[in-house]
Amino acid sequence: MAASIIKKQIPLSPPFLKGENKPAPRAIGVFDSGVGGLTVLRHIRQMLPNERLIYVADSGHVPYGDKPAHYIEQRSLSLAHFLIEQGADAIVIACNTATAAAATSLRSRYGIPIIGMEPAVKPAVAASKSGVVGVLATVGTLESARFAALLEKYAGDVEIVTQGCPGLVEQIELGELSSTQTRELIERYTSPLLARGADTLILGCTHYPFLIPLIRDAVGESIALVDTGAAVARQLQRRIQTELPERYAGDASVQFFTSGNEAHATRIMSMLWGRTVEAKLLPPAFL
Ligand code: DGL
Repeated sequence: MAASIIKKQIPLSPPFLKGENKPAPRAIGVFDSGVGGLTVLRHIRQMLPNERLIYVADSGHVPYGDKPAHYIEQRSLSLAHFLIEQGADAIVIACNTATAAAATSLRSRYGIPIIGMEPAVKPAVAASKSGVVGVLATVGTLESARFAALLEKYAGDVEIVTQGCPGLVEQIELGELSSTQTRELIERYTSPLLARGADTLILGCTHYPFLIPLIRDAVGESIALVDTGAAVARQLQRRIQTELPERYAGDASVQFFTSGNEAHATRIMSMLWGRTVEAKLLPPAFL
């Protein structure tokens, strides 16, 4: 079973290729409930152009936002196991909901750098002039103990108004980045935050940056939109430099996997990644 690998069984230093004196190429594993993590992957690609990257969209189980934490935790353990089997020696949980549900178990189980994502409360609080910050995120993220702790630590005197966004992730998974239905959902979710006086909106789900043009249309130019993709890529780069200094990055390839329909994932991922890619189905043990 996926969860059977324990910390001490994961190789911490890269193995050497037969007959060569340089380490075998390793990879950075990135996963999300679906295609949202591609908004993080593009920052990683920019910042670490020579790394081999492996992306898994758990499309067979999307959305995570309305699922119980233990379900997401099991899926995350399984996907991390797969990525490590493929050679990942660092993992990015490119999903706020999965970070809230599973970052602690992943870190206690696997002895490799595991980088998670959280809604960017700290920079948003610093940026707000009105003293009201809105958070758009999944219900799972907003209800998590991790998010409560984040507010406790960074909100200070700033009022934080949260808004769960059911249905939005599904629209993005369908590739509906500009349909009337998507536009209506965005109006519905952003208008209460603006009515409360928010001048800064946190995009607390990795899917949402794909909707920035529509969100802009809905909220206008004066509202700051805060996203964490670039910060996560920078943190990954720092962790690799300090914790895996001898690694050999390899062939700069990007591989894509899905636990859902391969043809659909191939189409949507190609559209969102900006070039034709092939999404392969995960092996049955990980579906
Ligand atoms: N992209 C994810 C996040 O950052 C999860 C979306 C979902 O599956 O509900 O929270």
